Amino acid sequence: MTQNTLKIPQHIAIIMDGNGRWARQRGLPRIEGHRAGAESVRAVVRACGELGVRYLTLYAFSMENWRRPKAEVNALMRLLEFYLQQEIPELDRNNVRLRAIGRLHELPLAAQRQLEKSIAALDDNTGLTLVLALSYGGRAELVDAMREIARKVKTGSLDIADINEEAIARHLYTRDLPDPDLLIRTSGEMRVSNFLLWQISYTEIYVTETLWPDFRKPQLLEAIAAYSKRQRRFGRVATSDES
Ligand code: FPP
Repeated sequence: MTQNTLKIPQHIAIIMDGNGRWARQRGLPRIEGHRAGAESVRAVVRACGELGVRYLTLYAFSMENWRRPKAEVNALMRLLEFYLQQEIPELDRNNVRLRAIGRLHELPLAAQRQLEKSIAALDDNTGLTLVLALSYGGRAELVDAMREIARKVKTGSLDIADINEEAIARHLYTRDLPDPDLLIRTSGEMRVSNFLLWQISYTEIYVTETLWPDFRKPQLLEAIAAYSKRQRRFGRVATSDES
């Protein structure tokens, strides 16, 4: 399949897994795997921009990740801050906008401040929107939405009869994003791991054995080629089977 015949997804979401295994295979500390993983982030963001993908959502830190050893959590937060600071000029050159979803108030203050600064610096851009999921959990997102909806019902600004799928979607962290077309998970695990539970109802899922630090533009193109061959039916029958 040539690049011209690829169907480019509007929104790609990625569970970036396998940094630890990549490091272990090389006898390196886990943080070296995360560092190499940050290089993959750089490469994949650039490639998505070049291909005309509109939204890229990366599962950078889950709520469950807080349970990792403190040293690893701290190292990941520092890496995130470093990335957010260092990448601004390149992201800006490539017309990338930045967003973040999750319980962002749980992040260390320095990371929160850097995140706000980077988002503001890239706010006028009109190309790819890079969405970082940080301290993110799909169930927590639904809990937060339900609380907000309940509060509105209680104060009378929302009628129970008006609670429908659109209303729920409007209360999620992703309220201004389309649902992902393609969800990629690296390193072979067949799990959704509490990522975008509501939003992936009709998303095509692609799992590769490749570990995240080895996932770069060629691997992204393979994923998009596989996606391009899928027939998305959204619960309907295939057009060729209609009779
Ligand atoms: C999973 O690998 C990866 C993470 C928990 C964190 C993802 C972070 C990065 C890619 C680097 C920094 C991010 C940005 C946005 C600059 P794992 O540690 O679970 O791997 P394992 O399952 O092999 O142990």
